Amino acid sequence: MNTVKLKERDDLVLGSKIGAGKFRECYSVENREDICVKVIKSNPGNFRLIQLRFLRKNIHLEELKIRQMLPPEIKNYFNPVLEANNNYSVCPRPLNYDGSYAQSLLHHQGISDDRFWEEIDYVYRFIDERQLWFFDIFNGRNIFVVEKDREGLSPLFVDYKQLGWKAFPLQPDLVFRFRKKLKLKRQYERLIRNYRKTE
Ligand SMILES: Nc1ncnc2c1ncn2[C@@H]1O[C@H](COP(=O)(O)OP(=O)(O)O)[C@@H](O)[C@H]1O
Ligand SMILES: [Mg+2]
Repeated sequence: MNTVKLKERDDLVLGSKIGAGKFRECYSVENREDICVKVIKSNPGNFRLIQLRFLRKNIHLEELKIRQMLPPEIKNYFNPVLEANNNYSVCPRPLNYDGSYAQSLLHHQGISDDRFWEEIDYVYRFIDERQLWFFDIFNGRNIFVVEKDREGLSPLFVDYKQLGWKAFPLQPDLVFRFRKKLKLKRQYERLIRNYRKTE
């Protein structure tokens, strides 16, 4: 049994794995249906290990800091980080209006709801204009689809640790603003191509 000791809350006992990315795994918490815990993967691969060692030492803390500095216009589209240290982060598990767990965009067979895509478009335009270079948020695994009510769906970003060139250390051209703009645009367009369904 894996127990997580935290400063600001009781020890958490990890349950089952509910998701995995390239750097981290996400676990449910015993007797706490509303939160989850992210930990670094035990086998992230050599390239990710180098990134974690040199560029992304405090990956959980970075995400917490990013959430705190987000402008109010877009903050609610980013799932909060409740607590973080060097080893873990604790986050809410996104819920639908009926209390069921929301799922990632990857789990859905495409989304046709116009309002959902207007909100994605709003976030894209906002971060592009403010030069907040989130290169990994327009990714089906990192966006949850939250059912706000019977009809309306809203996006929620659950992974936004990667801000700026550090996300792509092998792409030095990302020091140029126009390259960053182009990358963000391509990612946004790819998301729409892959997940926007027309009825
Ligand atoms: N708050 C959350 N609630 C439920 N599942 C989550 C949450 N955050 C992440 N996940 C799941 O865990 C996976 C890995 O988490 P993520 O933060 O994306 O890790 P990585 O940094 O490795 O990309 C996600 O792709 C998603 O499926
Ligand atoms: Mg991810």
